[in-house]
Amino acid sequence: MISDLNQDSHGPDAVTPPLAAAGPSTECNAIVARIVERHGRRASRLVPILQDVQAEYRYLPADVLSYVARALNVAPARVFGVATFYAHFAIKPKGRHLVRLCDGTACHVKDSVPILDAIRKKLGVDAKNPTSRDLLFTVETVACLGACGLAPVVVVDDQVYGGMTPDKGVALIDAIVAKEAAA
Ligand code: FES
Repeated sequence: MISDLNQDSHGPDAVTPPLAAAGPSTECNAIVARIVERHGRRASRLVPILQDVQAEYRYLPADVLSYVARALNVAPARVFGVATFYAHFAIKPKGRHLVRLCDGTACHVKDSVPILDAIRKKLGVDAKNPTSRDLLFTVETVACLGACGLAPVVVVDDQVYGGMTPDKGVALIDAIVAKEAAA
């Protein structure tokens, strides 16, 4: 798949349809059109294009993937294949705040599971549906965050919190909700 990505579908004789033909009829598509143009509408730039799209929307909506395929003049299956192949791409909506709970060995033996349970309960999410209905939070577990000395560890966005407890975890969520409400 990687080698395939390095080949551009726009050869010298390729006919590139205007972006309007790809259907940038919404503000959403206009944003994606700008991203695609920034990368020269090159199929070989598919991964960085998807990275930029995800940075904009926090995930890769299906209609946007279809639009990218049309704009790059590549098969939709190829775009969807890349979006689902790489773990850092999300094809489901993610919350504004990413809560990652470590369940590596050091954190697990220091009772990370009750923290996870408390935060999930607070937000009404579970492993299958990790994003809160208000799209404020997505809760994920990770194997090791590389901060075992601080176990058990929770990372919210890029901020690391060590020595966590279920109560501290819930308080963290409350603090973010209060901050969002005040914004
Ligand atoms: S096991 Fe949790 S930070 Fe390493």
